[in-house]
Amino acid sequence: MPSSDEAELSRRLAAMTLKEKVALLTGADAWTLTPVASAGLAALALSDGPVGPRGTSFGGDTPASLLFPSPTSLAAAWDEEAARETGRLMGARAREMGIHVLLAPTVNLHRSPLGGRHFECYSEDPLLTARVAVAFIRGVQSAGVAATVKHFVGNDSETERMTYDARIGEATLREVYLAPFEAAVREAGVWAVMAAYNSVNGRTMTENHRLLTDVLKGEWGFDGVVVSDWTAARSTEATALAGLDLAMPGPDGPWGDALVAAVEDGRVPMAAVDDKVLRILRLAARTGALDGVAAVPAPAVPDDVRDRLRALAIGGSVLLRNDGLLPLRATELRRVALIGPNAVRFAAQGGGSAHVTPEHVVTPLEGLRRVLGEEAEITVHAGVFPHAKLLPLPAGLAADPETGQPGVRLEYRTAGGGVVTAEHRDPATWWFPIVLAEEVTELAVRARLTLTESGLHRLSVLGTGQHTLRVPGQDDQVHEQLQDGDDIGALLLSPPSHTFAFTADAGQVDVEVLISPQRNLPYPVTLVGLGYAPPRGTDEEELAAAVEAARAADVAIVLVGSDADTETESLDRAGLALPGRQDELVRQVCAANPRTVVVVNAGAPWLMPWAREPGALLWSWFPGQEGGAAVADVLFGAEPGGRLPTTFPATESGVPILSTQPVDGVLDYAEGDRIGYRAYRPGSVLFPFGHGLSYTTWEYLRAVVVDGAVEVTVRNAGDRPGREVVQAYLDEGGELRLAGFAALEAAPGQSVTARIDLAPRTLSRWAGDGWARTDGPYVLRIGRSSADLPLTCTID
Ligand code: BGC
Repeated sequence: MPSSDEAELSRRLAAMTLKEKVALLTGADAWTLTPVASAGLAALALSDGPVGPRGTSFGGDTPASLLFPSPTSLAAAWDEEAARETGRLMGARAREMGIHVLLAPTVNLHRSPLGGRHFECYSEDPLLTARVAVAFIRGVQSAGVAATVKHFVGNDSETERMTYDARIGEATLREVYLAPFEAAVREAGVWAVMAAYNSVNGRTMTENHRLLTDVLKGEWGFDGVVVSDWTAARSTEATALAGLDLAMPGPDGPWGDALVAAVEDGRVPMAAVDDKVLRILRLAARTGALDGVAAVPAPAVPDDVRDRLRALAIGGSVLLRNDGLLPLRATELRRVALIGPNAVRFAAQGGGSAHVTPEHVVTPLEGLRRVLGEEAEITVHAGVFPHAKLLPLPAGLAADPETGQPGVRLEYRTAGGGVVTAEHRDPATWWFPIVLAEEVTELAVRARLTLTESGLHRLSVLGTGQHTLRVPGQDDQVHEQLQDGDDIGALLLSPPSHTFAFTADAGQVDVEVLISPQRNLPYPVTLVGLGYAPPRGTDEEELAAAVEAARAADVAIVLVGSDADTETESLDRAGLALPGRQDELVRQVCAANPRTVVVVNAGAPWLMPWAREPGALLWSWFPGQEGGAAVADVLFGAEPGGRLPTTFPATESGVPILSTQPVDGVLDYAEGDRIGYRAYRPGSVLFPFGHGLSYTTWEYLRAVVVDGAVEVTVRNAGDRPGREVVQAYLDEGGELRLAGFAALEAAPGQSVTARIDLAPRTLSRWAGDGWARTDGPYVLRIGRSSADLPLTCTID
């Protein structure tokens, strides 16, 4: 906004009463702010998140939106233009949904591969993170929607996320963890920053005056809004004085009347409140929520948006190994065995607040069908069943036993067994959240199931409390699952689940799930979901059937990985081994058919002790709604554009920073700047940072320094057009630091010169109280990954 409009914002501020001002500083509800007619301010709407705008609701009634590839996939493209396009498309979709503020991107770093939100962050490297984030933010904001860079700062893992104190030395903070935020503010001019739950160096981030006011707003000149992470504001004065501008969610919170009183008593100066309001008005002006201030014209979501999502997913796919099996040729395949848990339950996204409901997810089977047509036979076998949670009970399988309507009946009961109220629910989604009145002691879900097969049926219950499954003629089965209460996010986003099994013949059976909700939580809400799985063979039978199918096929395509329950907010992972018997499945299929491709469908690194066994190994990430099409495209010849944005370890014991467990509430970043590829010992790496194959081969010819940039000439030495990501690392006495990168495309035989602009900070380090140039000469190593650097050049 031009600076002359600042006077106009001040005029509007002056028209507001103290009560109106303070009312604006806490959400009117979970996602919107209070409109202020006297200031011409509409209700600003905020929405998650990093894989696409979800809208202003959460849970079962979430409207369909666009589901983008996971941020790890976007970072894997090493492509600022792809990041800008992603941001712009999300901005366009947000405008359609009436969203002013998108709660993305997440720029915390991959400090430990166990981090639950790893898939939602970009990289272990601050420079790659910053480059992707800056381009993404520019894209979002070009659509007139605010980006919110989060979580400021030190929220690189989830264990005790509400309270841990990240102890980070000043140089490490500046050079590593603050660097992407600084780039977002100074280079991209981001309009909002989210203050994290955790503390840094002894101060919780929503009260961290030094980082919010001195560094962010002072040194970096941030003129946007600092919003709390949801429920992260836990005090009145300390947060108000530290530089927090907006406490979310509302309508309750630590500000409201308490802040009005603090201002009236002189404990919080009026100027502090005015500054916050002014920032929100500025945000509104930027996002079209202030009447009389023209909004940026809303870009249309293009008709071919699905093709673009597919291209983005291809661009992030990383071909880790290829013995020449890929690309496959459709004309040579008559029988294809599609195998693995993720072939049957394809994971298009991770879990948590980033979750988006797409209209449709293209599965790998659909993707393969599009390529292969109806001619080839495709057999599908899960083989193993590693999922902690079952898929939602299909509405068509259940009916309300009283009305016969498809769905289930939910009754709220008192201690005496009386029914306070009853409602009809669609079991195909979970119910979120259910507000519990004092008198309600039990919830009962009643359903008439129409079973199409006889055998052992599985029914799972999601949520906390004591759960009883009642099937006529069978003993009641009881299970209790409780959760810690201080993180409502954990309660609602990662609820526990238990699977009951019962035997029944095909036909109708009336079942009841009785729930005594956990009541000792700080929130009078609960959440319920039902899952179901039909009868199947024993684990041994299912595994053997998958291996048999592989043996009989022209090619076996195995999809293993994780899902939105395993990689999710509020929980770090317990280990890096793929869940269940997936390793065994891969090994047996590879032994049965040498023409086996393994596709790993996961947002974060997992161990692959069998990595040398398949004919080819492709990493698809969580590739978004068009992911199944993108996987098939790459298998059949689309150039896999991706390079690893994070190191893939060979073993858990070789991971330099594995634990995310605070000790007595403290998470000590004692390793300093030595995370990721800067810390791994060579033998402990399975696939290095920056690694990824192309379908062609490349020769690195020369590198020269010209005007502060490096010009690198490479030649496509293969017989197909391809894309290469040229990477430059500063060699600091044997230790590498990414200094810049550039992607290029070349036809067979063609030589192309890429220009890598070196980031201005590359040659500087934080020295006590400011940035200082390090001593030259500087040695740059150039190549195709952090472990394959054939060219060297020196800057004097
Ligand atoms: C997450 C944020 C998210 C917010 C709103 C929090 O639990 O940490 O990333 O934007 O919820 O859903």
